[in-house]
Amino acid sequence: MMSSRYRALCRYARKVTLSPSDIEEQDIEDMRDANFSDREIVDANGIIAYYNYANRVASGLGVGVAQDSRMGRVASRYSIDAGRYRDLWGPLLRPLSLRLFDFLPLAQAGRVLDLGSGVGLLLEDLDRAATLSATVAVDCSVGMLELVPRGHQRAAMDAHKLGVAAESFDVAVLAFMLFHSADAGSCLREVRRVLKPGGSVGVVTWGKDLIATVDEIVADELDVHGALRVSALGSYDIHDTPDKLAELLGAAGFTAVRSWAEGCDYWSDLHGFADARMSVGQFRIRLGTLTGQPRSLCIDAIHRRLSEAGARRPAICSDIVLGVGASPVSRGLHRRPAQSSPHLTPPIG
Ligand SMILES: C[S@@+](CC[C@H](N)C(=O)[O-])C[C@H]1O[C@@H](n2cnc3c(N)ncnc32)[C@H](O)[C@@H]1O
Repeated sequence: MMSSRYRALCRYARKVTLSPSDIEEQDIEDMRDANFSDREIVDANGIIAYYNYANRVASGLGVGVAQDSRMGRVASRYSIDAGRYRDLWGPLLRPLSLRLFDFLPLAQAGRVLDLGSGVGLLLEDLDRAATLSATVAVDCSVGMLELVPRGHQRAAMDAHKLGVAAESFDVAVLAFMLFHSADAGSCLREVRRVLKPGGSVGVVTWGKDLIATVDEIVADELDVHGALRVSALGSYDIHDTPDKLAELLGAAGFTAVRSWAEGCDYWSDLHGFADARMSVGQFRIRLGTLTGQPRSLCIDAIHRRLSEAGARRPAICSDIVLGVGASPVSRGLHRRPAQSSPHLTPPIG
């Protein structure tokens, strides 16, 4: 459910974009009633006008902006889903992301970047682990950032073009965000740019087993029951094994790369996991296109197949893939990792 403040902002943005000459004093009053200060209204107006300008310049010249438009779609989908993400889906990811923390030098970190922070579900944990540090939440989705708990620094930015000085962070955490990137290599190179020499990156993402199983069943049944198709805004297969993730980190110039896969407990409640999965993103939208009997039949079929899949859990599970790397101390050298070491269990140390 959109907050009334967010709804007022959307109404205003729509009018400034589609019929700017109709804006009148009442529109400004509506924004004030929705708790926007005059300064915030001026900022909102400037940003909306700038986006309109930039989009018209690009459209007018027929310029393709594939990467930006993917990010725009990711951002707006997450903004719509932000509340459900915080309450249903995000809490399932948090314990998986925490597994990364033991492999990052958070205790000594001065500045930590939570890139693709979403609604900031890791920020309290990062503050606890990195007592000396200031953590900054960065995400492209303004709706997600709005739900970041007060008191945390946050900024709306594209992970591929961070408006951040080079060499300004000690640690960067990328939890379940890299699969949204149209160019994960360029995103990781940008992370390397903003890390101090010797700084650390940690990535956690989906592996081959759990999410692939659930997504395949849900997508299949939605197809069978006639749900409309919408684009998936993620591609896990670029880093769904330790080898692939190590390769990506190495190619982006990180050294001392380690990567490994782990299983997780959600197989014992695949139904709850899938329900949370269907509460956001493409599956929420697709399910919303079914009503009445087709919808109930689809949901029943999904749960029947989930029960069968749960009973067939793979013997060695790689549900998530984790990787860490260091930004080279010498910036002149673009070094490949001396050796990347894929593991099925986390490395010691
Ligand atoms: C699955 S959520 C993960 C959120 C958070 N890391 C967590 O674990 O709860 C993915 C987040 O990445 C953000 N994201 C995706 N592509 C991005 C980009 N290019 N720049 C910044 N944020 C991005 C999305 O807006 C979304 O909030």
